[in-house]
Amino acid sequence: MRIAMIGAGYVGLVSGACFAEFGVDVTVMDVDPDKIAGLRAGRMPIYEPGLDKLVAENVRNGRLTFTTDIDAAVKGADAVFLAVGTPTRRGDGHADLTYVYAAAEQVARAADGPLVIVTKSTVPVGTGREVQAIVRRVRPDGQIAVASNPEFLREGSAIGDFMRPDRVVIGVDDDRALAVMKRLYRPLYLIETPVLAVSIESAELIKYAANAFLATKITFINEIADLCEKVGADVHDVARGMGLDGRIGRKFLHPGPGYGGSCFPKDTLALARTAQDAGVPIRLVEATIAVNEARKAQMADRILAALGPSPAGKRVGVLGVTFKPETDDMRDAPSLVILPKLVAAGVEVRAFDPQPGHARQALPAAVGFAQTALDAAKGADAVVVLTEWNEFRALAPHRLKSAMAGDVVLDLRNVWDPAAMRAAGFAYSSIGRP
Ligand code: NAI
Repeated sequence: MRIAMIGAGYVGLVSGACFAEFGVDVTVMDVDPDKIAGLRAGRMPIYEPGLDKLVAENVRNGRLTFTTDIDAAVKGADAVFLAVGTPTRRGDGHADLTYVYAAAEQVARAADGPLVIVTKSTVPVGTGREVQAIVRRVRPDGQIAVASNPEFLREGSAIGDFMRPDRVVIGVDDDRALAVMKRLYRPLYLIETPVLAVSIESAELIKYAANAFLATKITFINEIADLCEKVGADVHDVARGMGLDGRIGRKFLHPGPGYGGSCFPKDTLALARTAQDAGVPIRLVEATIAVNEARKAQMADRILAALGPSPAGKRVGVLGVTFKPETDDMRDAPSLVILPKLVAAGVEVRAFDPQPGHARQALPAAVGFAQTALDAAKGADAVVVLTEWNEFRALAPHRLKSAMAGDVVLDLRNVWDPAAMRAAGFAYSSIGRP
């Protein structure tokens, strides 16, 4: 089988490399010539564990190629996946579908035989029907079918998630398209992955409902954590006791400074807008969005309060700025709200992140970057953990203490043990723990 992947971002590149690993011939196409030139030279445009090796292997065995030429990518393909961005549209919070519609039209024009256009990007209900309308307008011959195949991979564990997903969702109303999709995902049938064939509308909504549910779960435990702090309970005990109930589940009950990332913020907002337009507002999701936004600002206030009555001129070492560990993605990271507020209050901020590739451009120029965690802590009045990279867990408290000038530690990801930190002489606080 032969496929094209339109968009060489986090999803397109990972999915393309994984399909190649499944034995499919894959051409990954992107409009960004620098990205494609880099990929051809073996340079990854993103940090994702294991991706460079997987790409190199499949390029070597001839199953994975990169191009900026849409005609070359689409020629002879059984299916073409759209994996372009769907960011928040400026002004109204809806998903911006410009890239999806443009890519669908370009693919339809380039098609030289029967194929399936598969939307892998996260798109609001109704987008698949619009893609069908575009295709019918450009190619009235009926050779092109349309399917929806939302992606559930997580950055940081994207390859494993793609290769061993909890489920595959296929939205389709055409037997030929379903047959092509089933052949593409055949390796997953061997590991008994549930494959759900549903309507295009249901597939589109599954993705948003799942993301909104996870965002709500995180926000719920964040608010429970705030209550824990007031009443002397430990949020980890509460979360464990809740999560052992099979109806609740243990995952996504870890408190923090508010969710960020390339998906939850924009997807919750787009779902809320879709529901409002449909006349059935989802107030729970609207509340989740508002609570999470406020939380990021509250975290900045919390840091400023920990610095004492006059934070201006104080020094803060920040450990981790990406929205989560094992990625270089900065999209909607809590640091983008928190650090500018610290800078505006006159605080001197020195950050360290193991993958600072995109962070320098995303954060205010006043934020300094250190080469190591201890270097970021050097001479600091306070150290703040914003992202739970594993290497921070391994930092010896006495080494951190001797690097710092002050003793304030705000662990917004609960990576350290409160008793050990207090024994080491820190004025230590974390989220939802006494
Ligand atoms: P991204 O921004 O990393 O990549 C998108 C790529 O598409 C860019 O390289 C861009 O140059 C390219 N592009 C835009 N228009 C194009 C066109 N007409 N032809 C060819 N290439 C074009 O985006 P990312 O993160 O990969 O997300 C893609 C979609 O997948 C979004 O809808 C997102 O919501 C969804 N998604 C993302 C996940 C993630 O963890 N990043 C997980 C699951 C879904």
